[in-house]
Amino acid sequence: MSNAAMDVVEFLLTTRIFTDERDLDANDLPPRFRRVFWTDGEIERPLSATNSTARAGTGVDQPWEAVSELMFTERDEFSGSISINQPEMAEQWFTERVDDERLRSNPTLAYRFGEEFDIDYERVRDANRPIEADRVWIDSLLEEYFEDEEEEEMLDLVDIHAPEEIEMTLDDLVLTTDQENEIHKIVKAIEHRDYLAQIGLREIGKLLFVGPPGTGKTSTARGLAHSLDLPFVEVKLSMITSQYLGETAKNVEKVFEVAKRLSPCILFMDEFDFVAKTRASDEHAAIKRAVNTLLKSIDDVSLIQDDVLLIGATNHPDQLDAAAWRRFDEIVNFPKPDAGMRADILRVITRAMDIDEFDPDEIADITEGLTGSDLRMVLREAVLDALTEERTTLTQADLVDAVEDFEERDNLKNMDMMDGDHDALVAGGDIGADGGDGHSHDHAHEH
Ligand SMILES: Nc1ncnc2c1ncn2[C@@H]1O[C@H](COP(=O)(O)OP(=O)(O)OP(=O)(O)O)[C@@H](O)[C@H]1O
Ligand SMILES: [Mg+2]
Repeated sequence: MSNAAMDVVEFLLTTRIFTDERDLDANDLPPRFRRVFWTDGEIERPLSATNSTARAGTGVDQPWEAVSELMFTERDEFSGSISINQPEMAEQWFTERVDDERLRSNPTLAYRFGEEFDIDYERVRDANRPIEADRVWIDSLLEEYFEDEEEEEMLDLVDIHAPEEIEMTLDDLVLTTDQENEIHKIVKAIEHRDYLAQIGLREIGKLLFVGPPGTGKTSTARGLAHSLDLPFVEVKLSMITSQYLGETAKNVEKVFEVAKRLSPCILFMDEFDFVAKTRASDEHAAIKRAVNTLLKSIDDVSLIQDDVLLIGATNHPDQLDAAAWRRFDEIVNFPKPDAGMRADILRVITRAMDIDEFDPDEIADITEGLTGSDLRMVLREAVLDALTEERTTLTQADLVDAVEDFEERDNLKNMDMMDGDHDALVAGGDIGADGGDGHSHDHAHEH
């Protein structure tokens, strides 16, 4: 039995059942089919199956050819539509061959055949990714809410990602117990928003991620969007700061407006210290106004009322003043990973790689002070170096070498040129002599 035929018959049955059963809605279609039929903000019945829609939905190159031999299919040469002309025979053919996994990934099929296979339709529907997570959904919202040119400009201030486009998942991240607890709390709060509104608890849903570069702040925020199926609205404060008087304050307002229109969503404000920094250093009235606007906008947005989860991130907590801190109800610390976490991070990022005699604990021991992002760079170097020798299997020794190279480069980066240490930059110079001898590899070397 070719899988292609199964895939195409599934597609044909799904379009047919969905068209007939008016109780079914967009969330009953698997995302891969839904995408094909989403136009102007809705799924319009009837769903028409043609070579091109079937190809888009199933990935089968020649859909008609895959099913043309079957007794219950036909194709209209004129319109190009493919259809089932003997539904009973088609359903029988299909149910004789289908496995649970296929039914569990398609609510429309579970609706029709669930009972026969002892599969709970409601559960399949709940597990199906909601339409709100699809790019097409966000695009239709954007079109609806940001019609004229002036409003379109608001969108230039932010990056918007649909959950389906976010590759980072929480499973790919190694988190501290503390981080896990905070995330768990916020997931529960989002699930029980109605209850929290009912009891009048509003001071929730504003998180500040604090930690050095490369410790997973952005990744965690994205992973949350992915696992909660929420659109991710990202803004870097440095990017909305304008040299023009009053523009920055307006931009801040616009960013919050975008988030409210796209809600429920996550609004991620990176480089949160940026505004605080400018406030301290610059007495200009316009800047003050921008900061006040930012603080007020934070006050005015709410997870409970507006369905916006606000996450701020900063590398420089020391530059935030009390007024900014107070706005956040949870502070989540992103420390540099300890040896145990480094070993776990290495396990995660090498999941798909072949490594002979891989010993993550040994690598963890020689990478003190490195962040998750540093470890990724180390692995990348090891992979590329092996490729220059036409190898796709790494060895533990490759990793150790890559760590040494990384340390060397890191020393170069941190070197203070003004101290006249130029000789060290000459090829073959005696740099990074601390390569593999096991003493501290902290980033903050002194020269
Ligand atoms: N704890 C971790 N577990 C797994 N991967 C990690 C972890 N920390 C960082 N990484 C990886 O390092 C890379 C950079 O992380 P990320 O961009 O999230 O850091 P960040 O804290 O936002 O840094 P910055 O402050 O520079 O914006 C990502 O590819 C991420 O997968
Ligand atoms: Mg980041």
